[in-house]
Amino acid sequence: MDTHREVKSVWRQVSSVSGDYRLRSLEHILGEKTTETLYKEHGCVYKTDLRKAYFSPRLSYERLRIAGLTQKGETVLNMFAGVGCYSIAIAKHSEPLKVISVDVNPCAFQYLRENIRLNRVEKTVVPIQGDAKKVTENRLQNVVDRVLMPLPERAYEYLDIALYALKPAGGWIHYYDFEYANKNEDPVEKNKKKVSEKLRGICSEFQVEFGRIVRPIGPRWFQVVLDVHIQK
Ligand SMILES: C[S@@+](CC[C@H](N)C(=O)[O-])C[C@H]1O[C@@H](n2cnc3c(N)ncnc32)[C@H](O)[C@@H]1O
Repeated sequence: MDTHREVKSVWRQVSSVSGDYRLRSLEHILGEKTTETLYKEHGCVYKTDLRKAYFSPRLSYERLRIAGLTQKGETVLNMFAGVGCYSIAIAKHSEPLKVISVDVNPCAFQYLRENIRLNRVEKTVVPIQGDAKKVTENRLQNVVDRVLMPLPERAYEYLDIALYALKPAGGWIHYYDFEYANKNEDPVEKNKKKVSEKLRGICSEFQVEFGRIVRPIGPRWFQVVLDVHIQK
């Protein structure tokens, strides 16, 4: 706090991220006892509460990468939007028609709404509170060009729902997962094999066009992303 005068509060993470809302426990060390903060990235501002909603600055490059892939006029579905970091970056840096943004955590949803207002993307980002499966089944069949699945713990089980949301002509899925890899294994290739096996049973044609390690998360464990082009 002496060196970085803008720092008002210091907290230590004392648990891993867990539960449906992907939250972590924090222990207060110094300064104000608030976990609400403003974070600026790529010309966007995100208000969040680190105790009540998921947030990671380590996904900064990934958010900009997905925004760069989004084409003008697309309808995008972010199935696990949190406080809106991917959705707002896409709305600000590309020219999508809509970015439908779903999250089940009521607190993250409140910040999502506030961040839409703070970043003036009300015309583009559509917030919906609820379970991505139910919301998609009830309201989003055959309507989107691109689906984001930034819930690596459970994206695999939602793959068929992502396909359901894509337009009849197909589109793109950005699929996130955690993968274990031995020394002689490539986590991206291993994940590609697993996901391809599932996709073979639920769509007529697909290509995994790109994959990368997003970040290492533990000894031999990696967060990976696959960009998959789907023809339904
Ligand atoms: C790992 S966080 C990612 C949040 C955001 N995309 C980001 O990168 O900051 C996953 C989010 O999915 C939400 N979530 C979990 N299960 C969900 C479900 N079934 N439907 C909708 N959202 C869900 C959690 O509340 C959490 O905000």
